Amino acid sequence: MKLAVCFTPVAVNPGSIAGKPVLVIDILRATTSMIAALAHGAKAILPAASADDALKLAQNLERGSVLLAGERRSERIPGFALGNSPLEMTPDAVAGKTLVMTTTNGIPAILAADDGRPVLIGAAVNFRAAADAARRAFEAAGELTILCAGRDKGFALEDAYAAGRFVEAIVPGRLRRSLELNDAGVAARELVRKYGNDWKKAVTASAHARFLRERNFAKDVAFAAQADTHDLVPVYADRRVTA
Ligand code: MLT
Repeated sequence: MKLAVCFTPVAVNPGSIAGKPVLVIDILRATTSMIAALAHGAKAILPAASADDALKLAQNLERGSVLLAGERRSERIPGFALGNSPLEMTPDAVAGKTLVMTTTNGIPAILAADDGRPVLIGAAVNFRAAADAARRAFEAAGELTILCAGRDKGFALEDAYAAGRFVEAIVPGRLRRSLELNDAGVAARELVRKYGNDWKKAVTASAHARFLRERNFAKDVAFAAQADTHDLVPVYADRRVTA
């Protein structure tokens, strides 16, 4: 049984994940926001690599049913209906809508997992449900990649800690001895030794959390660090994320 953690999409070898299960994590904030949006009735989320791609995608959809969502440097892209805050994803805002979304870190990670099957969307907010779904996929396939969005193509503490929590939750004790875990997975588990089961302590210690707090997104950080507030596990397939 092989389990690999990738701290950024740069580390992903597309050939190595083709047809195999992938769990994508972007605690601050894309996967947290997607889970909130789908939990509040969004029909689907279409990832777009850039703002221009998002505009082109949206033009091919029925005007009244699509919302442009996304950020650059954590701020809503001018002209977009939504940014990338999970707190914007209210039922009034998103119910019945298809979101076309582009973000700096989370969306590139999802697009990098395009060849995976299934591609599961995880965060703290759906931790237990996502761990259960990832464990089923891991046991069925005999392998799993946990793909962190990271930050600006680099290591992000909040995602790496989350990866460690998922490794601990996905691999039952009986399999630990036979588990082939890569070095990033070993390091991610060490973060769990440091922070324990305290999501808030780990997430708020990150540079990204500080960056968001400085831009008045402290409530987003608090929301993203709350475990198990949602039990749906979105899946990415055929270029769309759905509940
Ligand atoms: C992301 O991809 O989640 C964003 O780059 C980070 C953010 O929205 O602050």
